[in-house]
Amino acid sequence: MNNISQLISLLGGTGAVAEKLKIRPSAISNWKKLNKIPSNKREAILELGSYLNVNIEKFLPSKKLNNLKFKMLLIICGGIASYKSLEIIRLIKKTDIELDVVMTKSAQKFITPLLVTSLNEKKCYIDLFSNEDEAKMNHINLARSPDLILVAPATANIMAKLANGLADDLASTILLASFSKVIFAPSMNPVMWNNLATRENYRKLLDRGIKFIEPDTGDMACGENGTGRFPEPKSILKFALSYIKENQILKSQFKNISILITAGPTIEEIDPIRFVSNKSSGKQGFEIASELTRRGAQVTLISGPVNIPFPDCKNIIKVKTAKEMLDNVTQQLPTDILICSAAVADWKLIPKTFSNNKIDTNNKIKKNNNKLFFEAEKNPDILETISKSNVRPKIVVGFSAETTNINQNAHSKLMSKNIDLIIANDVSNNKVFGKDFNKVSLIEKNNYEEWKKQSKKSVAYHLANKINDLLINYNKRGVNA
Ligand SMILES: Cc1cc2nc3c(=O)[nH]c(=O)nc-3n(C[C@H](O)[C@H](O)[C@H](O)COP(=O)(O)O)c2cc1C
Repeated sequence: MNNISQLISLLGGTGAVAEKLKIRPSAISNWKKLNKIPSNKREAILELGSYLNVNIEKFLPSKKLNNLKFKMLLIICGGIASYKSLEIIRLIKKTDIELDVVMTKSAQKFITPLLVTSLNEKKCYIDLFSNEDEAKMNHINLARSPDLILVAPATANIMAKLANGLADDLASTILLASFSKVIFAPSMNPVMWNNLATRENYRKLLDRGIKFIEPDTGDMACGENGTGRFPEPKSILKFALSYIKENQILKSQFKNISILITAGPTIEEIDPIRFVSNKSSGKQGFEIASELTRRGAQVTLISGPVNIPFPDCKNIIKVKTAKEMLDNVTQQLPTDILICSAAVADWKLIPKTFSNNKIDTNNKIKKNNNKLFFEAEKNPDILETISKSNVRPKIVVGFSAETTNINQNAHSKLMSKNIDLIIANDVSNNKVFGKDFNKVSLIEKNNYEEWKKQSKKSVAYHLANKINDLLINYNKRGVNA
């Protein structure tokens, strides 16, 4: 007797199963013959099994994620829905996902670590200050090794902690120390969910790239009605799996594509002490470098002097002046894509005296040269030089920081400099430089899009999508040419 025949007989036989599922008995006979249950009937069989208390899973092949080796960390927080995380563990155990589980202290008031350990067949982590685990810096390992961290249920408390950088237990320390993708599945009383503090924390986390599975609306365990209900574990896992798949696809989206990115300001020294530069922080360019590296591109980042940490990309070149930046860009060509996000100082200032006395700029200029003036010498325009050269990459993207007539100015730059795409932003009143948010317009020859204000990380994400479209179009044109 094969697996499926055994299962059908445990469920009451061909006739009974056919009746329960409202299908013809010949269909069930067919399943038995093929030793296979069609995927659209799998759920119905599982439900029937749980209704009749028959353990179906050992008869059905597990639904594996196609060749996807994946590590997930589930963080269970303390709320009414904590017990539903047990169902999430059960569902994950049917996939190929390697699962670790962390519980907060409050979660342990609702369900026990022992229950989690036995379901996951693996130690459940509960303590930041564990002598035994911390011998191997467990909190860092738990933070770094998963591809995805799912916080389910996520309490108002854990949202507030991460939004404000608190790390006073294992769960919050892991979240703060991680580079992994993070999904929050919040569940709480509707008043807690709508509280301005929670709304603000939600916004902050969203802007930092955390994904949310929005809570459902309806009757709550606390007797109130509104938004805050924990979604069904099945739909949480479905969301997480499609997110994993999307990321797996994105990971190789720019495979074998070389991308050169300039970022930050440049500086032009007047003497060993003074210089002329601008307020660019490099944040937007660094986010773009990170995003494209995450998507599999071979990124070379050429950065002017900045005060922020460098992203984790293949090759980083540090420069000071516009000329050094141009020289290094030229040396790195050919590449498939060039993104010029650096704010290159347009001029260098040459100090002069009215009496035409020679000034020694290798040493500090003394104040006794009291009648100084500066001659502005134009720096090379890197974007224009490269995009009009015979080593022009397939795609050239520029940035245009403006204070007036933003879009018109950016559009004329696009046309006159032969650029494929310009990101224009209004930098008046200190709105952009050094900030974590950006409000930009995207300008192409025949397309204009005004993007809402969003984090620089999010701008990088959407820009990467756009560049991918441009590359696909370029390749199509190449094939059709
Ligand atoms: C019976 C009970 C139910 C609770 N349910 C929730 C809930 O559903 N969502 C929530 O955010 N907090 C809920 N709380 C409050 C959290 O348990 C509390 O904020 C705790 O500090 C959360 O800790 P954690 O985020 O470390 O798990 C509940 C508290 C109690 C006593």
